[in-house]
Amino acid sequence: MVYSGPMGNHHEQPTPPASTVTEAEWDYTTRAVQSAISRGLGQSIGLPVHTAAAFQFGNLEEAQAEFAQGGGLSYARMQNPTVRMLEERLSSLEGAAHTLALASGQAATFTALMSVCRAGDHIVSASTLFGGSAGLLQNVLPLMSIETTFTDGSPEAMKAALRPNTRVLWAEMISNPSGDVADVAALAEVAHGAGALLAIDNTVGGAGYLARPLEHGADMSVQSLTKWAGGHGSAMGGSVSVGSSDLSRNLIFTEGEERSLLNLHGGAALAQRQRWLGASQLGMTLAPHSAFLLGQGLETVGVRLDRECATAQALAEWLSRHERVSAVSYCGLPEHPSYERAQRYLPRGKGAILTFDVPDPSRFLSRLQLLRIAPNLGDTRTLVVHPWTTTHGRVPEASRRAAGVGPQTIRMTVGLEDLADLQADIEQAL
Ligand SMILES: Cc1ncc(COP(=O)(O)O)c(C=O)c1O
Repeated sequence: MVYSGPMGNHHEQPTPPASTVTEAEWDYTTRAVQSAISRGLGQSIGLPVHTAAAFQFGNLEEAQAEFAQGGGLSYARMQNPTVRMLEERLSSLEGAAHTLALASGQAATFTALMSVCRAGDHIVSASTLFGGSAGLLQNVLPLMSIETTFTDGSPEAMKAALRPNTRVLWAEMISNPSGDVADVAALAEVAHGAGALLAIDNTVGGAGYLARPLEHGADMSVQSLTKWAGGHGSAMGGSVSVGSSDLSRNLIFTEGEERSLLNLHGGAALAQRQRWLGASQLGMTLAPHSAFLLGQGLETVGVRLDRECATAQALAEWLSRHERVSAVSYCGLPEHPSYERAQRYLPRGKGAILTFDVPDPSRFLSRLQLLRIAPNLGDTRTLVVHPWTTTHGRVPEASRRAAGVGPQTIRMTVGLEDLADLQADIEQAL
């Protein structure tokens, strides 16, 4: 896909011959740097930043058409050219038909779930979740009379938890922090058999580089772009990507939006509903400067993850042999419960987060000189936290343990530093 700019691309090259390889056939790493950028005289070689709050119409009829149908440029709360380029790039990388980028991963999760649920509906979720997602499901959605049943995330348990009013199944592709890998194909079968949708948080799947849930049957792929997509810990963002399958039976339209959705079906209708809800109505809009940083980060996500996954694998193996460390959890280790599934769903690498238990977390963290204590993931720098008392501190104790977090657990997100330097710092801190 090539975005031609808000005023169109007046210098496009002639249509290539039919035998030319199309963008969809390019490797991920090629699409990461080439997608969403126009070709032609004077076109910017990178992602331009558009800071306008509104966009012009030539006449009243154009304005009326846009307000009736949506999907174009009018007011930047709904769409902005820089954000749109990021969305096109994400669609290309996730194998999606449509993507909505928002101000944070939390905004994306909330929008994805609320785009198909209303009061009285039910969600089935895995319990190995990021604390913020657990908080939304446990504390926020009940305020709108939407109830969630938590399960161990297996297709059997999720099937057993279904109710006639179940609208969505929710799980993380690679769970943060326990590294459980979702059996997406089997979960999609369970969801679709019950007339529900499958939404997968693909944050740790690295913008589709490690995993593309839509290709295995998921209906929505949600992610925090703050993590591997941006990759430098420099901007917040989140996205919801949807496929093109016919999901319209699951949509609930309100009177106000019905008019613009009448001619849309399936993924297009779902995507427009999400933009209406998350951006237009709730205003969780992504700022163009952030979209630029996140879109630029995507250009190197594959290269970074190759190195980070290799380092994470080496550290996991080394730590699991270390006498002062216990309970190392990384889905690239044969003893991890998701090891087999990781071979199937994550051919390029098993992710860049791992957890391990140390005798005295406070002492360990305070002795570190290279690794930094910070709650982010997917940074170029290796970061560690004590999830029990920080990221998961407000999650009920049973849910914390179910999410793979104990009082002695350290979560590490592996960056781009040299492996030997990381080992030396961990060794002296232990
Ligand atoms: C797996 C996962 N999903 C969603 C989020 C929320 O993203 P954000 O912090 O961008 O709102 C996070 C944040 O840590 C996360 O780890």
